[in-house]
Amino acid sequence: MDVLLIGGGGREHAMAWKLRQSKQLGKLYIAPGNAGTAQCGENVEIKDNDIPALVDFAKQKRVGLAIVGPEEPLAKGLVDAMEAAQIKAFGPNAAAAQLEADKAFSKQLMRAGAISTAEGRVFDRFSDAKAYIASRDEPVVIKAAGLAKGKGVIVCDDPAEGILAAERIMVDRIFGAAGARIVVEDMLLGEEASILAFVDGHSIYVMESSQDHKPIGDGDTGPNTGGMGAYSPAPIITDDMMVRISREVLVPTVDAMNRNGTPFKGVLYAGLMITSGGPRVLEFNVRFGDPETQPILMRLQSDLLEVFLAVCDGKLEDAFLKWDPRPAVCVVMASGGYPGDYEKGKVITGWKEAEELDDVVVFHAGTRQRNGDVVTNGGRVLGVTALGTNVAAAKARAYEAVDRIHFDGAYCRRDIADKAIGRKR
Ligand code: AMP
Ligand code: GLY
Repeated sequence: MDVLLIGGGGREHAMAWKLRQSKQLGKLYIAPGNAGTAQCGENVEIKDNDIPALVDFAKQKRVGLAIVGPEEPLAKGLVDAMEAAQIKAFGPNAAAAQLEADKAFSKQLMRAGAISTAEGRVFDRFSDAKAYIASRDEPVVIKAAGLAKGKGVIVCDDPAEGILAAERIMVDRIFGAAGARIVVEDMLLGEEASILAFVDGHSIYVMESSQDHKPIGDGDTGPNTGGMGAYSPAPIITDDMMVRISREVLVPTVDAMNRNGTPFKGVLYAGLMITSGGPRVLEFNVRFGDPETQPILMRLQSDLLEVFLAVCDGKLEDAFLKWDPRPAVCVVMASGGYPGDYEKGKVITGWKEAEELDDVVVFHAGTRQRNGDVVTNGGRVLGVTALGTNVAAAKARAYEAVDRIHFDGAYCRRDIADKAIGRKR
């Protein structure tokens, strides 16, 4: 079966790499892809949000399946458009993608489904938001309601900071139109985890747990990014906690989406805070996480294409997935300056040498080919991922690989997976 994979980040390279291992896969097209996906299939020069061009291409090549990686084309209705053209597509339709694309929608859905989340209020006017935040004397979290590439959240230590953050989002529009509306939330304390599940409308298959590292700096300091590294599994998610998450979050969410008339199909990603009172939802995403996908798929031993087809066909109930018991750690190498301004076009060396290490895969994110070289082409450049007999070994191997790779201005956190290592001890 020929497949079109939409997207061009580290998540998509990981998906392309895993799909390539499927015996059922014929040709793999990736639109637009990156220098890494070019090793797994054929990159196609179509932007990931150019819906008409993507549908035309899928029709012309008669692909058996279109798989949508990023949130923006999902929210814009790429799956709806593919299905209207009789092309099987993996991912939620636009109505279900609101669960990520509109934080006000997701708050409302959680309220209706009695799903635990931070107390939050939605504002369309800065003056109203300001008055509300000023009336409180605790830390607050200010979130742009729309899509902001994972960066639209500002955690504030006090109301004064909160008002400033609301002003920057709503008035200065630092996250663009995504900030026309904001959600003001109570700050939750605890440790975070990402729980990803395949959902076919009614059945749920929960994948192995993982943990992202959102802030740019070591020790979780500085502004939020798309994610600077991840590992799987997350020891904070014990078997008992996983049962609670299924029962208290995933099942009621899938049910609430059905009751709402927006049934969910695809990957449901719950970003959770594990508090002393149990799991609380920080956000939902409607797709694989980036960079969580890199360590998760590195551990998957089953055929990913078969799972995607089971989801599309509503046959997830029969799916059985095998996982490598060894942990995996992914360290993101970013361009200097990210998540602010950064330069592109820096030549990357040493990534092949890094992959000569056992159980290491260098997933590309913001990279492209230029005259035989691979050069940087985005904020997050590479996701260097390694398996190890334990988390510490996986971390050591990932950084051994990182240290073989060079480009001007390369930056990475040095403490990815330390929370898991601390907890294991
Ligand atoms: P989100 O995109 O909503 O997951 O938020 C990005 C990051 O901001 C999360 O991964 C958390 O680190 C932090 N965050 C979001 N909401 C809260 C909250 N209510 N309390 C504490 N931290 C939060
Ligand atoms: N890793 C966070 C995200 O994919 O949104």
